Amino acid sequence: MELEAQFERTVAAGQRVEPRDWMPDGYRKTLIRQIAQHAHSEIIGMQPEGNWISRAPSLRRKAILLAKVQDEAGHGLYLYAATETLGADRGELTEKLISGRQKYSSIFNYPTLSYADVGVIGWLVDGAAICNQVPLCRTSYGPYARAMIRICKEESFHQRQGYELLMTMMSGTDAQRAMVQESVNRWWWPSLMMFGPPDAESANTEQSMKWRIKRNTNDELRQKFVDMTVPQAEKLGVTLPDPELRWNAERGHHDFGQPDWDEFWQVVGGNGPTNAQRVEHRRKAHEDGEWVRAAAEAHAAKHAAQEGV
Ligand code: 3HC
Repeated sequence: MELEAQFERTVAAGQRVEPRDWMPDGYRKTLIRQIAQHAHSEIIGMQPEGNWISRAPSLRRKAILLAKVQDEAGHGLYLYAATETLGADRGELTEKLISGRQKYSSIFNYPTLSYADVGVIGWLVDGAAICNQVPLCRTSYGPYARAMIRICKEESFHQRQGYELLMTMMSGTDAQRAMVQESVNRWWWPSLMMFGPPDAESANTEQSMKWRIKRNTNDELRQKFVDMTVPQAEKLGVTLPDPELRWNAERGHHDFGQPDWDEFWQVVGGNGPTNAQRVEHRRKAHEDGEWVRAAAEAHAAKHAAQEGV
């Protein structure tokens, strides 16, 4: 039918699908799933680093970390707003997160055990997020693509502040250098898992690529991240904990080992080191915020009544 043909033409031409345009139910459903889980990731992602705001070693580091965590909250709100343009209800999405019916990024189910984690998360986790999210600035759904442009700019700040923090620690004492290396050892493999399962095990990639929701596959972006990160690790003076990591001149890329995919699926399935803690914290914050939502609604109703709306 003509509407479907128009949708196909728009996507094939690399143009944007907008909220008012006709779209297949599956396209809408996939977008709500991906954008909601992206938003959940941003909000849950505030917890690991938030843990260090009160224990940052200087006012400067505290201010930087505070700004970064606040950015993540803003990213979540942008993305929830993008889901609402698809007819999703933000409250229902939060309930799905809290009840385990929707996911968030596996990376946030690992504990932040030392202050070096703040730098390593900025460098590796936000670095991986940049690799994964810059292509999304060209995703076929307009509101998502536009949200990603500003989010990617802020992610670049997140990544740079983390790398600068680590450069400072690496020029410090042996103990600080050891703290950074220990943190890299813990975060490297979970950072590779952020890109999702291998393409051969990815249920959604093929269709998402056809709809140009995804512009690259999971494995393509994982490879890009490894190639980008190896020289940064060398400059930093840390070792990436992968004995199979080496430059392959024939491929023009680095060969690298495989993450523990059993661990990945365990974490995605809710059985990671801090899944229960992260979701419980989110549930409590949601419940504690009920009075704010009720007050805002009462104020809006009173204002509407006064305006005779
Ligand atoms: N953590 C949790 N679940 C994951 C995952 C991960 N790292 N990788 C994949 N999954 C889930 C998928 O959601 C899917 O389950 P579902 O069908 O129930 O949603 C299943 O595993 C199979 O994976 P697929 O590859 O088939 O799924 P996708 O095509 O959706 O690809 C993705 C997964 C690459 C994460 C894609 O959804 C994506 O690019 N999302 C947008 C980016 C995003 O969400 N990034 C979160 C990173 S955190 C962040 O950016 C915060 C920053 O401040 C650090």
